[in-house]
Amino acid sequence: MVANWKMYVDTPLAAKAWAKTLRTKMRSLSFVEVAIAPSFVLLPHVVDALNRSTIKVGAQAVSSNHISAHTGEVSARMLKNVGASFVIVGHSERRALGETNEMVHAQILEADAAKLGIVLCVGEKERDAGGEHFAIIHEQLTSALAGLSPKSISKLVVAYEPVWAIGKTAADAMKPQDIQEVIIFIKKTLTGLFEPSAVKKITLLYGGSVEEANAAAILKEGIVGGFLVGHASANIENFLPILKACK
Ligand code: PGA
Repeated sequence: MVANWKMYVDTPLAAKAWAKTLRTKMRSLSFVEVAIAPSFVLLPHVVDALNRSTIKVGAQAVSSNHISAHTGEVSARMLKNVGASFVIVGHSERRALGETNEMVHAQILEADAAKLGIVLCVGEKERDAGGEHFAIIHEQLTSALAGLSPKSISKLVVAYEPVWAIGKTAADAMKPQDIQEVIIFIKKTLTGLFEPSAVKKITLLYGGSVEEANAAAILKEGIVGGFLVGHASANIENFLPILKACK
């Protein structure tokens, strides 16, 4: 379960309180693997609060570059140096700012070289009856993962996030049956790219308006391995029931 805080959690105090509450609650939630993606500025605070815990901490984005002259950018190595263990790449809110498939691919290579885990987001902006969304997802996957070693592939997490279902309520989220269809398609696409033994190890998540109300049903029928949770992770009290749904 990945908590994508976006800009919701916005002070060191709030970030540390959130992390410490989760740390305490994890004693009864050992059946679920949890990761938090705070903003860059809060990352060291959360790493510090979760020192020696099983909860992973990562970033929401990373630069496509590693050389020095990129004002405002944060490299994969910099993330690693402050204790991040993974990074989200290809999130639709970053793609909407102009990040292309080529940039996502470059970011993945940078993250991989810095030994960061990768959570790759794919998903269509809208749906049409012609099934164009499958071609979009196929292109996002194949372009992003080109040239990645089998060892890195086996540690990969792919999050399917249909853009039209993000930031709404459980009632507007994608239905479990429809999620299942795309998850099968993603598995097939990955199997066309890599060895089946490596593909088996890839974790597939769903993201887009996951809340307590729809979490259990999507886990059960959507055949996903977990969630990338946005707004429902802003408040730890809304996130905990989603973790409990894993049971
Ligand atoms: P949401 O966001 O849960 O608020 O829909 C998910 C995401 O964008 O990762």
